[in-house]
Amino acid sequence: MNISNSLYSGDDGWSHLQEVIAEYKKSGIYILVDENTIELCLPILKAKCSGLEDAMVIEIHSSESNKTIATVEKIWQQLVVGNAVRNSLMICLGGGLTTDVGGFAAATFKRGINFIHIPTTLLAMVDASLGGKTGVNLNSVKNQIGVFALPKAVFVFEEFLKTLPARQKLSGYAEMLKHAMIHSEKLFGKLIVLNSHEKVCNEANILESASVKMDIVNSDFTETGLRKALNFGHTIGHAIESYSQKYDSDPLLHGEAVAIGLICESFISMRMFGLDKNDLKRLANLVSWHFPHYRFKTKPGDELLALMCHDKKNSSTSQLNFSLLRKIGDPVYDQFPGEKLVLESLHFYINLEVGFFV
Ligand SMILES: NC(=O)c1ccc[n+]([C@@H]2O[C@H](COP(=O)([O-])OP(=O)(O)OC[C@H]3O[C@@H](n4cnc5c(N)ncnc54)[C@H](O)[C@@H]3O)[C@@H](O)[C@H]2O)c1
Ligand SMILES: [Zn+2]
Repeated sequence: MNISNSLYSGDDGWSHLQEVIAEYKKSGIYILVDENTIELCLPILKAKCSGLEDAMVIEIHSSESNKTIATVEKIWQQLVVGNAVRNSLMICLGGGLTTDVGGFAAATFKRGINFIHIPTTLLAMVDASLGGKTGVNLNSVKNQIGVFALPKAVFVFEEFLKTLPARQKLSGYAEMLKHAMIHSEKLFGKLIVLNSHEKVCNEANILESASVKMDIVNSDFTETGLRKALNFGHTIGHAIESYSQKYDSDPLLHGEAVAIGLICESFISMRMFGLDKNDLKRLANLVSWHFPHYRFKTKPGDELLALMCHDKKNSSTSQLNFSLLRKIGDPVYDQFPGEKLVLESLHFYINLEVGFFV
């Protein structure tokens, strides 16, 4: 399998999208949008491509609390009303929530209808729309239910990013930092020099970051080995994301939590594998510059550790499983740093606020 072949962008992307629409027009096209992409992105899509006049538009709400099987059921019901058949096409036009939920709904409706992703957030362009993971949350645990299912194609168009709020761009920027750290000093150094979540928002930089993920996914689609490297920053990041959803009226975005996770897990990498202290410093400074410092509402301890245990990537609840770095560009997975070091890493992050460094 080579999923790199299915990523399109630029003028070639629009031409290919037009061909796909023409191919599926007769058997029914269903466009999944959220409350923002229906206003901001659907008009662009319709202006660029013909043949969507009869497409049924299905709208979901983009909050993470709606990433549930109930939302999927609403989509299935609309597909029934719209007489969707096996050979129909769903176009998921939105961020990672729309591509995760839409991909899952499409992959399970009538045992699977065709779907394509047109990601409209930076995070979805470099990460969520790629690699075939689809699904929903259950009992507030992220992505507990889902299937691996690949879209027929993914289309990256930078014009959609013009309306994306800066905070959302930062969220995607965190995933780009993660890709760079896993991949190479060259790519990490480039992002450090660019030092901007705005300057990375062009197709060349997006495709470069996306290709880091796609190369890894191509070598290990079902995540039995190397794909786990993509979880770098996420064992702690996901726990902080869930924690923030519990305590904050305006919770952290996925990438915002991952940015903290990257710092903590780099700290653990330094302690366990000797990741260069200067690399941790470069990352911590970059993140501190761009992202507001997060203040925990309780003393980090058992609650966060329990949330980490619920992370689906942990094969057992007794040990916390991490993907770490030996050095920039040299990931290592299935690592068990132990609770003490994990807590130390959280305190390292907390102390960054008062300028304490290692
Ligand atoms: N499947 C995977 O491999 C994978 C990887 C990473 C993240 N994810 C999932 O992705 C989700 C997060 O994705 P996200 O950050 O894209 O969030 P999102 O889909 O909720 O989008 C964020 C916000 O931006 C708005 N928006 C989208 N496009 C816009 C545009 N062009 N202009 C203005 N506003 C726009 C949305 O309406 C929403 O309010 C999470 O559920 C996460 O679990 C999945
Ligand atoms: Zn992520």
